[in-house]
Amino acid sequence: MAPDMDPEDIGVNASAEPDFASIIDSVLSRRAVLGGMAATALVRHVTFSAEARAAGMAGPSLTFAEAPHTIAENHQVAAGYDAQIVIRWGDKVTADAPAFDPLRQSAAAQARQFGYNNDHIGYCPLPLGSDHSEHGLLVINHEYTDSWLMFPGLTDKDAVAKVTREQAEIELAAHGLSVIEVRKLAGNWRVVENSVYARRITVETPMAVSGPAAGHDRLKTTADPSGLALRGTLNNCAGGLTPWGTVLTAEENFHQYFSGVPHGAEAAAHKRVGIVGKPEYSWGKHFDRFNVATEPNEPNRFGWLVEVDPHDPRSVPVKRTALGRFKHEAANVVVNGNGRVSVYTGDDERFEYLYRFVTHGKIDHGNRAANLRLLDDGVLYVAKFHDDGRLTWLPLIFGNALLNRDHGFNSQADVVIDARRAADLMGATPMDRPEDVETNPVTGKVYMMCTNNTKRQAEQTNAANPRANNAHGHVIEMIPPRVDGHVDHTALEYTWTVFLLAGPKDQGRYHPQTSPSGWMSAPDNMAFDPAGRLWIATDQGSSQAENGIPDGMYAMETEGPFRALSRFFYACPRGAEMCGPMFTPDGKTLFVAVQHPGEDKGSTFDAPSTRFPDFQAGMPPRPSVVAITKKDGGVIGSSA
Ligand code: FEO
Ligand code: CA
Ligand code: CA
Repeated sequence: MAPDMDPEDIGVNASAEPDFASIIDSVLSRRAVLGGMAATALVRHVTFSAEARAAGMAGPSLTFAEAPHTIAENHQVAAGYDAQIVIRWGDKVTADAPAFDPLRQSAAAQARQFGYNNDHIGYCPLPLGSDHSEHGLLVINHEYTDSWLMFPGLTDKDAVAKVTREQAEIELAAHGLSVIEVRKLAGNWRVVENSVYARRITVETPMAVSGPAAGHDRLKTTADPSGLALRGTLNNCAGGLTPWGTVLTAEENFHQYFSGVPHGAEAAAHKRVGIVGKPEYSWGKHFDRFNVATEPNEPNRFGWLVEVDPHDPRSVPVKRTALGRFKHEAANVVVNGNGRVSVYTGDDERFEYLYRFVTHGKIDHGNRAANLRLLDDGVLYVAKFHDDGRLTWLPLIFGNALLNRDHGFNSQADVVIDARRAADLMGATPMDRPEDVETNPVTGKVYMMCTNNTKRQAEQTNAANPRANNAHGHVIEMIPPRVDGHVDHTALEYTWTVFLLAGPKDQGRYHPQTSPSGWMSAPDNMAFDPAGRLWIATDQGSSQAENGIPDGMYAMETEGPFRALSRFFYACPRGAEMCGPMFTPDGKTLFVAVQHPGEDKGSTFDAPSTRFPDFQAGMPPRPSVVAITKKDGGVIGSSA
């Protein structure tokens, strides 16, 4: 993506205006607040200082010295910590991979080497079922490519026109996922060479498909008349781990690879996801399947959550269509007290929605094979945020409400393929770019990053999206009810509040003791440490230079007197966004993904704005996975 473009800027939701039901809700909520009902969540933020006073002398648990809040060519971490490069774009993944040579790259080499733009990192302890914190698999998404930083002679302005077929084949091979085996030896993380688990998954890898849309006519193409033999995964953004040892990888901005003007039966559906004949890649010119004029159903084979089993290197990834098709940001799994499994997943685009899937079946800790089928049967819901602090989950079920033939849905397959349109009809709340959504493992509360939305007008604001021209984003906290002592992530109604408003301190809302380095813009991904503290990763996109701060990691408590006291821990190198945060189970390693270093305005392969992490002449910047550990071997978050 060009540095002055954000894929989410396209804004294709024509139903973003508040509907009549929303207006009624807003009236009801004002009455509720005036009546003193249900408003406790909304006023929580004003109690910070009172609680802090009540707590006396006890200080915050996060005591590290903050990292420099300045943009630099190298990354920077809090004093007392080490930030080591684990693997870089082009490094060997499979045993037969050649050494990286950026001037002699080939698709065959790239398909064996670490891909571009690492995003989600899943740490899967070895052996399967253990909580080993010094030996495991890293399953890493490669979201997209920046051809002008990968190949000489290109700029972000001319790359779509100039990329050759050979370069496009390298780009296909640089997408997808990598599975690597890693070990911590004497405090240092190392990739295990010649691991039996080592694997690349690319846009060419065979994929299975399950759930309501499997084999449906709308998934059939010239190359696959069955609609069952899918090929490749695209724009793998964030993701999540399942308790049965698999990884869910989220297909996000799949629209940007498709050229051709939509026509025929799929035209409206393509337009709703932003396929409008303005691709960000050259692929449609080189490969028929990425041109909707020749293959109108190919886009319907992307935009899903894909389940990957890293413990079986021969396993075929499965696209789980029951969880809906949209621009999935992430997929985070939580097991309920009754054994049913809930998955939270955001649709990252302006004025799009938050979704939740709840399985019909229950997890069986003694039957992994059964768990591998759990995500094929359940109910997909979309969120409606009421101004009075309630959240309602609206089921997307064929035949329910308007989801019927009169409205163009002929089966549940249509509902999941056109999940956005189904959500529109159900009256879901258009949000300010729902990115990562995760459950605090200690409290059971659920947090959603809303990155930003500068297109929101004053008349479109509501309690959950309270700012017009929302340049800096916010974080929403959702509170499911408790049933029989367990937090119930299957409930149809939660409460919610705004946890923090991002932006410079005088424009945002944080704990009042937040230092001048603690403010952030564009919260995107997150991780919880084992103590339930929230670590937020930011992605300012083209606003990084304007804001004057790097992207990176911010840490804070979510409960008690120091709630939302944000502290800056790690700074990405210039032009990069922060992805993939993931802790080992012992809380002593934080893996992060430095994505698109050097993606500044005017930066190219030939003259990059940084050569992170190698800093060698002729070597372009390389997206890299970084392992952060404390020099004294302690838990991440404490002072040196
Ligand atoms: Fe791929 Fe929305 O970040
Ligand atoms: Ca993201
Ligand atoms: Ca992002």
